[in-house]
Amino acid sequence: MLDQDNDLTRLKGQSGTPKGQIVYVMGQVRDRHCRPIEGAVVEIWQASENGRYRHPRDRDNPAPLDPAFQYWGKNVTDKEGRYLFKTIKPGSYQAGRNWTRPPHIHFKVSHGDFRPFITQMYFAGDAHQQRDRDRHGKTGEDARVDAARTHGGLDPWQLQRRKSHPVHYRTRCKTA
Ligand SMILES: [Fe+2]
Repeated sequence: MLDQDNDLTRLKGQSGTPKGQIVYVMGQVRDRHCRPIEGAVVEIWQASENGRYRHPRDRDNPAPLDPAFQYWGKNVTDKEGRYLFKTIKPGSYQAGRNWTRPPHIHFKVSHGDFRPFITQMYFAGDAHQQRDRDRHGKTGEDARVDAARTHGGLDPWQLQRRKSHPVHYRTRCKTA
């Protein structure tokens, strides 16, 4: 059975620790009116410290898998909409010719009443970010949840109600 908890640095039945800098990623899932969403499923997946994914499509990657790293995790938000992961800072990887993806963590947030939300989290100050094609040249707050804000638990992602109009996801909710 695959390990699916929110501690990616420990694998069931193994004593090793993964390579890389330990980071705690925490935050809060809210709706468009900034109300916390309890019971949202937050799933993350990411590369190991050497930029390798545990995924069939990453077979061509010459970097070896880290046998002590969990590579993905799952957490359900509490009453205050909060989630928490213990993981390592992922490495950058080559995504094509002249294209290096900056370190990032993939997120999927889902809840029965809302449309699933898929996004990526970056680490502030990484040199590869300016030229990253996945971010479409965005450099502002919309494109980034940096490590400092994530540590503070302030990343205000909002989910859109399934019934709501198909508008773009926003990363800011409005209290008014
Ligand atoms: Fe990725």
